[in-house]
Amino acid sequence: MQLGLKNKRVLVTAGAAGIGRATARAFAAEGAKVFICDVDTASLADFAKENPGIGTTVADVSDEKAVDHLFAEAGKFLGGLDILINNAGIAGPTGPVETLSLEDWRRTLDINITGQFLCARKAVPLLRKAGGGSIINLSSAAGRFGFPRRTPYSASKWAVVGFTKSLAMELGPDKIRVNAILPGAVDGPRIRRVIEAKAKSVGVSFAEMEKKYVTQASLARMVSADDIANQILFVCSDAGQNVSGQPLAVDADTQYLI
Ligand SMILES: NC(=O)c1ccc[n+]([C@@H]2O[C@H](COP(=O)([O-])OP(=O)(O)OC[C@H]3O[C@@H](n4cnc5c(N)ncnc54)[C@H](O)[C@@H]3O)[C@@H](O)[C@H]2O)c1
Repeated sequence: MQLGLKNKRVLVTAGAAGIGRATARAFAAEGAKVFICDVDTASLADFAKENPGIGTTVADVSDEKAVDHLFAEAGKFLGGLDILINNAGIAGPTGPVETLSLEDWRRTLDINITGQFLCARKAVPLLRKAGGGSIINLSSAAGRFGFPRRTPYSASKWAVVGFTKSLAMELGPDKIRVNAILPGAVDGPRIRRVIEAKAKSVGVSFAEMEKKYVTQASLARMVSADDIANQILFVCSDAGQNVSGQPLAVDADTQYLI
């Protein structure tokens, strides 16, 4: 399959770890020109050392001024934009709704959905100038199922799907495709933190909660960051040229969230 990603100019938010890191490296391996941001300066420095061909800058996607700075730096490095990967997202708080703080609610929505809005707003004129392109917004299985004790996260990830579908309709005439990726539980340190918090909140052991997480998918396994990166590359490639406005699950056939 010809992906046609060579020399494409790609911006990945929150690229220093997890799915963002795997995605940035996968684009670079296909010959794309890649720039990432992250809020964590230490992991960004490690990433830069490991991936000298990929541009980096520190930016919090929920901060309007930081996003302006990010696009200025990315513009200098990439000289335009073909693909935006709106990957940044946090797990947010775990607990019954009446125990959650307004501050935690707002922080979750600020990063997970407002951050995507701020980046898309800056990216669209650049994608138009390039004659078309692709935006990928990271949602979650929590963007198609209810997720008890994770209401801010789930609300933010359903919002990502509405944002994606609306933007795809708005931008189709400009040949800009917009899709959401909905990962299931991705094996790695983040999911271990998530399982630990859920186990503590409902009063069961880590092992018991981990088993529940795995068996909620019919394939009875977690997915990997590379699975997500592969799907993103396909959708952004020439091979995915007629895919737009879709919430695309990569979740080992998750049936529900506990
Ligand atoms: N890991 C999973 O199981 C899973 C499942 C479904 C959806 N997702 C979604 O996939 C995306 C990536 O998740 P991940 O598992 O790779 O996360 P991760 O926690 O492994 O890595 C996230 C990176 O985001 C950075 N970051 C956090 N807040 C930021 C901000 N405000 N601005 C810029 N960077 C920021 C962190 O420093 C970190 O480097 C998120 O949107 C997440 O909600 C993850």
